[in-house]
Amino acid sequence: MTDRAAMPELFTWEFATDPYPAYAWLREHSPVHRTTLPSGVEAWLVTRYGDAREALADPRLSKNPVHHAESPGARGKTGIPGERSADLMTHLLNIDPPDHTRLRRLVSKAFTPRRVALFEPRVRQLTDRFVDGFAARGEADLIHEFAFPLPIYAICDLLGVPAEDQDDFRDWAGMMIRHGGGPRGGVARSVKRMRAYLVELIHRKRAELTAGDPAGADGAAGAGTGSGAGDDLISGLIRASDHGEHLTENEAAAMAFILLFAGFETTVNLIGNGMHTLLTHPGPRVELQASLARGESALLESAVEELLRHDGPVELATWRYATAALTIGGQPVAAGDPVLVVLAAADRDPARFTEPDTVNLARADNPHLGYGHGIHYCLGAPLARLEARTALSTLLTRLPDLRLAADPADLRWRGGLIMRGLRTLPVAFTPGAAQAN
Ligand code: HEM
Repeated sequence: MTDRAAMPELFTWEFATDPYPAYAWLREHSPVHRTTLPSGVEAWLVTRYGDAREALADPRLSKNPVHHAESPGARGKTGIPGERSADLMTHLLNIDPPDHTRLRRLVSKAFTPRRVALFEPRVRQLTDRFVDGFAARGEADLIHEFAFPLPIYAICDLLGVPAEDQDDFRDWAGMMIRHGGGPRGGVARSVKRMRAYLVELIHRKRAELTAGDPAGADGAAGAGTGSGAGDDLISGLIRASDHGEHLTENEAAAMAFILLFAGFETTVNLIGNGMHTLLTHPGPRVELQASLARGESALLESAVEELLRHDGPVELATWRYATAALTIGGQPVAAGDPVLVVLAAADRDPARFTEPDTVNLARADNPHLGYGHGIHYCLGAPLARLEARTALSTLLTRLPDLRLAADPADLRWRGGLIMRGLRTLPVAFTPGAAQAN
Protein backbone atom coordinates (compact mmCIF):
# COMPACT_ATOMS: atom_id res chain seq x y z
CA MET A 1 0.00 0.00 0.00
CA THR A 2 2.92 2.34 0.56
CA ASP A 3 4.56 1.44 -2.75
CA ARG A 4 4.18 4.17 -5.38
CA ALA A 5 4.31 1.54 -8.12
CA ALA A 6 1.15 0.03 -6.71
CA MET A 7 -0.98 2.97 -7.86
CA PRO A 8 -4.37 1.59 -8.87
CA GLU A 9 -5.52 2.40 -12.39
CA LEU A 10 -8.11 5.14 -12.66
CA PHE A 11 -11.25 5.12 -14.85
CA THR A 12 -11.38 1.33 -15.31
CA TRP A 13 -14.36 -0.90 -14.68
CA GLU A 14 -12.96 -1.84 -11.23
CA PHE A 15 -12.52 1.84 -10.45
CA ALA A 16 -16.15 2.61 -11.39
CA THR A 17 -17.29 -0.22 -9.10
CA ASP A 18 -15.17 0.86 -6.12
CA PRO A 19 -13.02 4.00 -6.55
CA TYR A 20 -12.24 4.31 -2.83
CA PRO A 21 -8.97 2.26 -2.72
CA ALA A 22 -7.61 4.37 -5.59
CA TYR A 23 -8.63 7.56 -3.81
CA ALA A 24 -6.95 6.37 -0.58
CA TRP A 25 -3.75 5.80 -2.56
CA LEU A 26 -3.94 9.23 -4.18
CA ARG A 27 -4.63 11.01 -0.88
CA GLU A 28 -1.54 9.39 0.59
CA HIS A 29 0.93 9.49 -2.32
CA SER A 30 -0.18 12.08 -4.85
CA PRO A 31 -2.85 14.27 -3.25
CA VAL A 32 -2.92 16.77 -6.13
CA HIS A 33 -2.56 14.42 -9.03
CA ARG A 34 -2.09 15.19 -12.71
CA THR A 35 -4.02 12.72 -14.84
CA THR A 36 -5.29 12.18 -18.37
CA LEU A 37 -9.04 11.78 -18.37
CA PRO A 38 -10.77 9.24 -20.62
CA SER A 39 -11.60 12.16 -22.96
CA GLY A 40 -7.85 12.84 -23.40
CA VAL A 41 -7.99 16.11 -21.44
CA GLU A 42 -5.34 16.59 -18.75
CA ALA A 43 -6.55 17.73 -15.34
CA TRP A 44 -5.56 17.87 -11.67
CA LEU A 45 -7.40 15.68 -9.15
CA VAL A 46 -7.55 17.16 -5.63
CA THR A 47 -8.22 14.38 -3.10
CA ARG A 48 -7.41 15.61 0.45
CA TYR A 49 -10.20 17.19 2.49
CA GLY A 50 -8.28 20.36 3.45
CA ASP A 51 -7.07 21.03 -0.10
CA ALA A 52 -10.51 20.24 -1.53
CA ARG A 53 -12.30 22.65 0.77
CA GLU A 54 -9.79 25.40 0.03
CA ALA A 55 -9.97 24.83 -3.71
CA LEU A 56 -13.80 24.97 -3.71
CA ALA A 57 -13.64 28.38 -2.06
CA ASP A 58 -10.71 29.77 -4.10
CA PRO A 59 -11.81 32.67 -6.36
CA ARG A 60 -8.79 32.03 -8.61
CA LEU A 61 -10.44 28.79 -9.69
CA SER A 62 -13.05 29.83 -12.22
CA LYS A 63 -16.11 27.90 -13.36
CA ASN A 64 -16.03 29.54 -16.77
CA PRO A 65 -14.67 27.23 -19.50
CA VAL A 66 -13.15 30.22 -21.33
CA HIS A 67 -10.30 29.89 -18.84
CA HIS A 68 -9.42 26.39 -19.99
CA ALA A 69 -5.99 26.65 -21.64
CA GLU A 70 -6.66 23.83 -24.05
CA SER A 71 -9.85 24.93 -25.73
CA PRO A 72 -10.96 28.41 -24.81
CA GLY A 73 -14.66 28.83 -24.55
CA ALA A 74 -15.60 25.90 -26.69
CA ARG A 75 -16.18 23.14 -24.20
CA GLY A 76 -19.19 22.63 -22.01
CA LYS A 77 -17.74 20.98 -18.94
CA THR A 78 -20.57 20.89 -16.46
CA GLY A 79 -21.45 17.39 -17.52
CA ILE A 80 -24.62 18.45 -19.28
CA PRO A 81 -24.98 16.45 -22.47
CA GLY A 82 -25.67 18.61 -25.51
CA GLU A 83 -24.63 21.70 -23.59
CA ARG A 84 -22.40 22.97 -26.36
CA SER A 85 -25.13 22.97 -28.93
CA ALA A 86 -27.94 24.12 -26.68
CA ASP A 87 -28.03 27.66 -25.41
CA LEU A 88 -27.66 26.69 -21.79
CA MET A 89 -24.28 28.07 -20.92
CA THR A 90 -25.37 30.91 -18.68
CA HIS A 91 -26.25 28.82 -15.68
CA LEU A 92 -24.93 28.92 -12.12
CA LEU A 93 -22.45 26.10 -12.49
CA ASN A 94 -20.71 27.73 -15.43
CA ILE A 95 -20.22 31.31 -14.29
CA ASP A 96 -18.29 33.39 -11.75
CA PRO A 97 -19.10 36.52 -9.76
CA PRO A 98 -20.49 39.07 -10.40
CA ASP A 99 -22.91 37.26 -12.79
CA HIS A 100 -23.10 34.27 -10.46
CA THR A 101 -23.88 36.49 -7.46
CA ARG A 102 -26.72 38.21 -9.32
CA LEU A 103 -28.30 35.00 -10.66
CA ARG A 104 -27.91 33.11 -7.40
CA ARG A 105 -29.54 35.95 -5.48
CA LEU A 106 -32.47 35.98 -7.87
CA VAL A 107 -33.07 32.25 -7.76
CA SER A 108 -32.65 32.18 -3.97
CA LYS A 109 -35.57 34.61 -3.69
CA ALA A 110 -37.82 32.10 -5.42
CA PHE A 111 -36.32 28.75 -4.35
CA THR A 112 -36.61 29.24 -0.62
CA PRO A 113 -36.29 26.64 2.17
CA ARG A 114 -39.88 27.56 3.07
CA ARG A 115 -41.11 26.64 -0.41
CA VAL A 116 -39.31 23.30 -0.07
CA ALA A 117 -40.68 22.62 3.43
CA LEU A 118 -44.25 23.18 2.17
CA PHE A 119 -43.57 20.54 -0.44
CA GLU A 120 -43.13 17.66 2.04
CA PRO A 121 -46.66 16.15 1.77
CA ARG A 122 -46.33 16.02 -2.02
CA VAL A 123 -42.98 14.19 -1.80
CA ARG A 124 -44.51 11.67 0.61
CA GLN A 125 -47.45 11.19 -1.76
CA LEU A 126 -45.01 10.44 -4.59
CA THR A 127 -42.89 7.96 -2.61
CA ASP A 128 -46.04 6.14 -1.45
CA ARG A 129 -47.36 6.01 -5.01
CA PHE A 130 -44.14 4.43 -6.30
CA VAL A 131 -44.11 1.82 -3.50
CA ASP A 132 -47.81 1.08 -4.21
CA GLY A 133 -46.73 0.35 -7.79
CA PHE A 134 -44.58 -2.63 -6.83
CA ALA A 135 -45.65 -3.52 -3.27
CA ALA A 136 -47.70 -6.57 -4.31
CA ARG A 137 -44.90 -8.05 -6.41
CA GLY A 138 -42.36 -8.79 -3.70
CA GLU A 139 -39.56 -7.47 -5.86
CA ALA A 140 -38.54 -4.25 -7.58
CA ASP A 141 -35.71 -2.33 -9.14
CA LEU A 142 -35.32 0.59 -6.77
CA ILE A 143 -33.49 2.70 -9.33
CA HIS A 144 -36.09 2.57 -12.12
CA GLU A 145 -39.26 2.19 -10.09
CA PHE A 146 -38.46 4.51 -7.21
CA ALA A 147 -35.30 6.65 -7.21
CA PHE A 148 -35.55 7.68 -10.89
CA PRO A 149 -39.12 9.02 -11.06
CA LEU A 150 -39.10 10.77 -7.66
CA PRO A 151 -36.86 13.77 -8.42
CA ILE A 152 -38.27 14.29 -11.90
CA TYR A 153 -41.87 14.52 -10.77
CA ALA A 154 -40.86 16.49 -7.67
CA ILE A 155 -38.92 19.13 -9.62
CA CYS A 156 -41.57 19.33 -12.34
CA ASP A 157 -44.18 19.99 -9.65
CA LEU A 158 -42.02 22.56 -7.95
CA LEU A 159 -41.26 24.37 -11.21
CA GLY A 160 -44.91 24.32 -12.23
CA VAL A 161 -44.77 21.94 -15.21
CA PRO A 162 -48.43 20.90 -15.69
CA ALA A 163 -49.17 17.29 -14.65
CA GLU A 164 -50.09 16.25 -18.21
CA ASP A 165 -46.61 17.19 -19.49
CA GLN A 166 -44.56 15.60 -16.71
CA ASP A 167 -44.31 12.18 -18.38
CA ASP A 168 -42.47 13.88 -21.27
CA PHE A 169 -39.90 15.13 -18.79
CA ARG A 170 -39.59 11.63 -17.34
CA ASP A 171 -38.87 10.30 -20.85
CA TRP A 172 -36.35 13.04 -21.70
CA ALA A 173 -34.61 12.58 -18.38
CA GLY A 174 -34.59 8.81 -18.91
CA MET A 175 -32.82 9.31 -22.20
CA MET A 176 -30.25 11.54 -20.52
CA ILE A 177 -29.53 9.17 -17.66
CA ARG A 178 -29.30 6.13 -19.93
CA HIS A 179 -27.10 7.72 -22.55
CA GLY A 180 -25.58 10.68 -20.71
CA GLY A 181 -22.00 11.80 -21.21
CA GLY A 182 -22.03 13.06 -24.78
CA PRO A 183 -23.99 15.42 -26.97
CA ARG A 184 -25.01 12.63 -29.32
CA GLY A 185 -28.28 11.76 -31.03
CA GLY A 186 -31.15 11.17 -28.64
CA VAL A 187 -29.54 12.89 -25.69
CA ALA A 188 -28.95 16.15 -27.53
CA ARG A 189 -32.48 15.92 -28.91
CA SER A 190 -33.91 15.43 -25.42
CA VAL A 191 -31.99 18.42 -24.08
CA LYS A 192 -33.23 20.51 -26.98
CA ARG A 193 -36.86 19.48 -26.46
CA MET A 194 -36.64 20.14 -22.75
CA ARG A 195 -35.21 23.58 -23.36
CA ALA A 196 -37.79 24.44 -26.02
CA TYR A 197 -40.54 23.31 -23.65
CA LEU A 198 -39.17 25.43 -20.80
CA VAL A 199 -38.83 28.53 -22.96
CA GLU A 200 -42.46 28.09 -24.04
CA LEU A 201 -43.62 27.52 -20.47
CA ILE A 202 -41.81 30.64 -19.28
CA HIS A 203 -43.51 32.68 -22.03
CA ARG A 204 -46.90 31.28 -21.03
CA LYS A 205 -46.44 31.85 -17.33
CA ARG A 206 -45.22 35.38 -17.87
CA ALA A 207 -48.35 36.08 -19.91
CA GLU A 208 -50.58 34.48 -17.23
CA LEU A 209 -48.91 36.51 -14.52
CA THR A 210 -49.29 39.75 -16.40
CA ALA A 211 -52.95 38.99 -17.17
CA GLY A 212 -53.90 37.68 -13.73
CA ASP A 213 -51.48 39.58 -11.49
CA PRO A 214 -52.34 37.34 -8.50
CA ALA A 215 -52.76 39.61 -5.52
CA GLY A 216 -50.27 39.22 -2.74
CA ALA A 217 -48.11 36.71 -4.61
CA ASP A 218 -44.50 37.19 -3.56
CA GLY A 219 -42.77 34.30 -5.21
CA ALA A 220 -42.89 32.06 -2.17
CA ALA A 221 -46.60 31.89 -1.62
CA GLY A 222 -47.21 28.27 -2.47
CA ALA A 223 -45.42 24.97 -2.56
CA GLY A 224 -45.57 24.84 -6.33
CA THR A 225 -47.98 22.05 -7.05
CA GLY A 226 -48.21 22.89 -10.71
CA SER A 227 -51.80 23.95 -10.29
CA GLY A 228 -52.77 27.61 -10.47
CA ALA A 229 -50.80 30.40 -12.06
CA GLY A 230 -48.30 32.21 -9.95
CA ASP A 231 -47.60 29.83 -7.07
CA ASP A 232 -44.80 27.84 -8.67
CA LEU A 233 -41.05 28.28 -8.89
CA ILE A 234 -40.97 29.41 -12.53
CA SER A 235 -43.46 32.15 -11.72
CA GLY A 236 -41.29 32.98 -8.72
CA LEU A 237 -38.26 33.29 -11.01
CA ILE A 238 -40.14 35.54 -13.42
CA ARG A 239 -41.38 37.71 -10.59
CA ALA A 240 -37.94 37.98 -8.99
CA SER A 241 -36.64 39.23 -12.31
CA ASP A 242 -39.45 41.74 -12.58
CA HIS A 243 -38.58 43.33 -9.24
CA GLY A 244 -35.83 45.69 -10.30
CA GLU A 245 -33.19 43.13 -11.13
CA HIS A 246 -32.76 41.60 -14.50
CA LEU A 247 -33.35 37.98 -15.45
CA THR A 248 -33.56 37.45 -19.20
CA GLU A 249 -35.81 34.74 -20.64
CA ASN A 250 -32.69 32.85 -21.65
CA GLU A 251 -31.38 33.04 -18.12
CA ALA A 252 -34.73 31.93 -16.72
CA ALA A 253 -34.80 28.94 -19.09
CA ALA A 254 -31.20 28.06 -18.25
CA MET A 255 -32.04 28.36 -14.55
CA ALA A 256 -35.08 26.08 -14.80
CA PHE A 257 -32.98 23.64 -16.78
CA ILE A 258 -30.08 23.62 -14.31
CA LEU A 259 -32.52 23.03 -11.45
CA LEU A 260 -33.90 20.04 -13.32
CA PHE A 261 -30.51 18.79 -14.36
CA ALA A 262 -28.63 19.39 -11.11
CA GLY A 263 -31.49 18.01 -9.06
CA PHE A 264 -32.18 14.90 -11.07
CA GLU A 265 -29.37 12.35 -11.35
CA THR A 266 -27.88 13.55 -8.05
CA THR A 267 -31.07 12.67 -6.20
CA VAL A 268 -31.53 9.36 -8.06
CA ASN A 269 -28.04 8.39 -6.93
CA LEU A 270 -28.32 9.72 -3.41
CA ILE A 271 -31.30 7.41 -2.90
CA GLY A 272 -29.73 4.55 -4.92
CA ASN A 273 -26.28 4.71 -3.31
CA GLY A 274 -27.81 5.32 0.12
CA MET A 275 -30.16 2.31 -0.10
CA HIS A 276 -27.30 0.21 -1.47
CA THR A 277 -25.20 1.12 1.56
CA LEU A 278 -28.04 0.33 3.96
CA LEU A 279 -28.80 -2.99 2.26
CA THR A 280 -25.15 -4.04 2.46
CA HIS A 281 -24.69 -2.79 6.07
CA PRO A 282 -27.35 -4.57 8.14
CA GLY A 283 -26.19 -3.13 11.50
CA PRO A 284 -26.77 0.55 10.66
CA ARG A 285 -29.90 -0.32 8.73
CA VAL A 286 -31.54 -2.16 11.66
CA GLU A 287 -30.58 0.73 13.92
CA LEU A 288 -32.29 3.18 11.56
CA GLN A 289 -35.42 1.04 11.25
CA ALA A 290 -35.70 0.80 15.03
CA SER A 291 -35.36 4.56 15.32
CA LEU A 292 -38.06 5.12 12.67
CA ALA A 293 -40.35 2.65 14.45
CA ARG A 294 -39.98 4.80 17.60
CA GLY A 295 -41.12 7.80 15.56
CA GLU A 296 -37.78 9.61 15.89
CA SER A 297 -36.29 11.82 13.18
CA ALA A 298 -32.80 12.70 14.47
CA LEU A 299 -31.10 9.51 13.29
CA LEU A 300 -32.81 9.75 9.89
CA GLU A 301 -31.43 13.27 9.45
CA SER A 302 -27.87 12.38 10.37
CA ALA A 303 -28.15 9.14 8.33
CA VAL A 304 -28.83 11.11 5.14
CA GLU A 305 -25.66 13.17 5.75
CA GLU A 306 -23.58 10.08 6.55
CA LEU A 307 -24.79 8.19 3.47
CA LEU A 308 -23.92 11.24 1.40
CA ARG A 309 -20.44 11.41 2.94
CA HIS A 310 -19.79 7.68 2.68
CA ASP A 311 -20.88 7.13 -0.93
CA GLY A 312 -22.34 10.33 -2.32
CA PRO A 313 -23.70 10.82 -5.84
CA VAL A 314 -21.28 13.58 -6.89
CA GLU A 315 -17.87 11.95 -7.16
CA LEU A 316 -16.15 15.06 -8.52
CA ALA A 317 -17.29 18.65 -8.21
CA THR A 318 -17.95 20.21 -11.60
CA TRP A 319 -14.96 21.62 -13.50
CA ARG A 320 -12.83 24.52 -12.36
CA TYR A 321 -10.02 26.28 -14.23
CA ALA A 322 -6.98 28.08 -12.80
CA THR A 323 -7.14 31.75 -13.84
CA ALA A 324 -3.56 32.30 -12.62
CA ALA A 325 -0.58 30.19 -11.62
CA LEU A 326 -1.22 28.94 -8.08
CA THR A 327 -0.38 26.11 -5.71
CA ILE A 328 -2.81 23.60 -4.28
CA GLY A 329 -1.51 21.57 -1.34
CA GLY A 330 2.02 22.64 -2.31
CA GLN A 331 1.61 21.49 -5.92
CA PRO A 332 2.12 24.20 -8.58
CA VAL A 333 -0.82 24.44 -10.99
CA ALA A 334 -0.46 26.47 -14.21
CA ALA A 335 -2.94 29.10 -15.41
CA GLY A 336 -5.50 27.47 -17.68
CA ASP A 337 -5.23 24.02 -16.08
CA PRO A 338 -8.49 22.24 -15.23
CA VAL A 339 -8.86 21.29 -11.56
CA LEU A 340 -11.24 18.56 -10.43
CA VAL A 341 -12.06 18.43 -6.73
CA VAL A 342 -12.76 14.82 -5.82
CA LEU A 343 -15.52 15.13 -3.21
CA ALA A 344 -15.72 11.35 -2.78
CA ALA A 345 -12.01 11.20 -1.86
CA ALA A 346 -12.11 14.24 0.44
CA ASP A 347 -15.08 12.83 2.33
CA ARG A 348 -13.13 9.66 3.22
CA ASP A 349 -10.02 11.53 4.36
CA PRO A 350 -8.85 10.04 7.69
CA ALA A 351 -7.22 13.39 8.47
CA ARG A 352 -10.74 14.84 8.84
CA PHE A 353 -13.13 11.96 9.58
CA THR A 354 -12.75 9.32 12.28
CA GLU A 355 -12.93 5.83 10.74
CA PRO A 356 -13.90 7.31 7.37
CA ASP A 357 -14.73 3.97 5.73
CA THR A 358 -17.18 3.02 8.49
CA VAL A 359 -20.89 3.82 8.12
CA ASN A 360 -21.81 5.62 11.33
CA LEU A 361 -25.35 6.93 10.86
CA ALA A 362 -25.18 8.92 14.08
CA ARG A 363 -21.87 10.62 13.13
CA ALA A 364 -22.02 14.02 14.79
CA ASP A 365 -18.90 15.72 13.41
CA ASN A 366 -19.69 15.45 9.71
CA PRO A 367 -18.81 18.56 7.67
CA HIS A 368 -18.81 16.57 4.41
CA LEU A 369 -18.35 18.17 1.01
CA GLY A 370 -21.10 16.15 -0.69
CA TYR A 371 -23.00 19.34 -1.55
CA GLY A 372 -19.84 21.24 -2.38
CA HIS A 373 -18.59 24.31 -0.52
CA GLY A 374 -18.31 28.05 -1.09
CA ILE A 375 -20.36 30.15 -3.49
CA HIS A 376 -21.47 27.16 -5.61
CA TYR A 377 -22.71 25.22 -2.56
CA CYS A 378 -25.72 23.17 -3.67
CA LEU A 379 -28.75 25.36 -4.03
CA GLY A 380 -31.04 22.33 -3.89
CA ALA A 381 -29.68 20.85 -0.65
CA PRO A 382 -32.94 21.40 1.31
CA LEU A 383 -34.94 19.65 -1.44
CA ALA A 384 -32.37 16.84 -1.74
CA ARG A 385 -32.50 16.27 2.03
CA LEU A 386 -36.30 16.26 2.02
CA GLU A 387 -36.46 13.75 -0.83
CA ALA A 388 -33.79 11.50 0.69
CA ARG A 389 -35.39 11.50 4.17
CA THR A 390 -38.82 10.75 2.74
CA ALA A 391 -37.51 8.07 0.37
CA LEU A 392 -35.54 6.21 3.03
CA SER A 393 -38.25 6.37 5.67
CA THR A 394 -40.97 5.24 3.22
CA LEU A 395 -38.93 2.27 1.99
CA LEU A 396 -37.65 1.13 5.40
CA THR A 397 -41.04 1.53 7.08
CA ARG A 398 -43.31 0.07 4.42
CA LEU A 399 -40.93 -2.72 3.34
CA PRO A 400 -39.36 -3.77 6.64
CA ASP A 401 -37.68 -6.93 5.31
CA LEU A 402 -36.30 -5.29 2.17
CA ARG A 403 -33.17 -7.10 0.94
CA LEU A 404 -30.78 -6.98 -1.97
CA ALA A 405 -31.86 -9.46 -4.68
CA ALA A 406 -28.41 -9.70 -6.31
CA ASP A 407 -24.87 -10.51 -5.33
CA PRO A 408 -23.35 -7.08 -4.49
CA ALA A 409 -20.40 -8.00 -6.74
CA ASP A 410 -22.78 -8.28 -9.72
CA LEU A 411 -24.21 -4.79 -9.40
CA ARG A 412 -23.21 -2.46 -12.24
CA TRP A 413 -22.14 1.13 -11.65
CA ARG A 414 -22.37 3.83 -14.27
CA GLY A 415 -18.89 4.85 -15.37
CA GLY A 416 -19.46 8.62 -15.52
CA LEU A 417 -16.80 11.06 -14.44
CA ILE A 418 -18.84 13.41 -12.26
CA MET A 419 -21.65 11.19 -10.97
CA ARG A 420 -21.44 7.90 -9.14
CA GLY A 421 -24.51 5.68 -9.23
CA LEU A 422 -25.94 2.22 -9.88
CA ARG A 423 -27.59 1.12 -13.12
CA THR A 424 -30.07 -1.06 -11.23
CA LEU A 425 -30.75 -1.95 -7.60
CA PRO A 426 -32.80 -5.17 -7.52
CA VAL A 427 -34.53 -5.81 -4.19
CA ALA A 428 -36.92 -8.38 -2.76
CA PHE A 429 -39.33 -8.28 0.19
CA THR A 430 -42.38 -10.07 1.56
CA PRO A 431 -45.37 -8.63 -0.33
CA GLY A 432 -47.69 -9.00 2.64
CA ALA A 433 -45.31 -6.89 4.69
CA ALA A 434 -45.67 -3.87 2.38
CA GLN A 435 -48.01 -2.04 4.71
CA ALA A 436 -49.98 0.86 3.43
CA ASN A 437 -48.86 4.15 4.93
C1 HEM B 1 -24.56 22.66 -6.96
C2 HEM B 1 -24.55 18.22 -5.04
C3 HEM B 1 -29.36 17.95 -5.40
C4 HEM B 1 -29.37 22.26 -7.58
C5 HEM B 1 -24.16 21.48 -6.40
C6 HEM B 1 -22.78 21.15 -6.08
C7 HEM B 1 -22.79 19.90 -5.56
C8 HEM B 1 -24.15 19.44 -5.52
C9 HEM B 1 -21.57 19.11 -5.11
C10 HEM B 1 -21.57 22.05 -6.28
C11 HEM B 1 -20.86 21.74 -7.56
C12 HEM B 1 -19.57 22.49 -7.71
O1 HEM B 1 -19.17 23.28 -6.85
O2 HEM B 1 -18.92 22.28 -8.73
C13 HEM B 1 -25.84 17.78 -4.97
C14 HEM B 1 -26.23 16.53 -4.36
C15 HEM B 1 -27.56 16.44 -4.45
C16 HEM B 1 -28.04 17.65 -5.13
C17 HEM B 1 -25.28 15.52 -3.73
C18 HEM B 1 -28.30 15.26 -3.91
C19 HEM B 1 -29.38 14.86 -4.12
C20 HEM B 1 -29.79 19.11 -5.98
C21 HEM B 1 -31.17 19.48 -6.20
C22 HEM B 1 -31.15 20.68 -6.85
C23 HEM B 1 -29.78 21.09 -7.00
C24 HEM B 1 -32.37 18.63 -5.79
C25 HEM B 1 -32.29 21.54 -7.33
C26 HEM B 1 -33.49 21.21 -7.51
C27 HEM B 1 -28.06 22.71 -7.62
C28 HEM B 1 -27.66 23.95 -8.26
C29 HEM B 1 -26.28 24.05 -8.09
C30 HEM B 1 -25.86 22.89 -7.34
C31 HEM B 1 -28.58 24.94 -8.97
C32 HEM B 1 -25.39 25.20 -8.58
C33 HEM B 1 -25.25 26.22 -7.51
C34 HEM B 1 -24.28 27.32 -7.88
O3 HEM B 1 -23.43 27.13 -8.75
O4 HEM B 1 -24.41 28.39 -7.28
N1 HEM B 1 -24.97 20.42 -6.04
N2 HEM B 1 -26.95 18.43 -5.42
N3 HEM B 1 -28.98 20.12 -6.45
N4 HEM B 1 -26.97 22.10 -7.07
FE1 HEM B 1 -26.97 20.33 -6.15
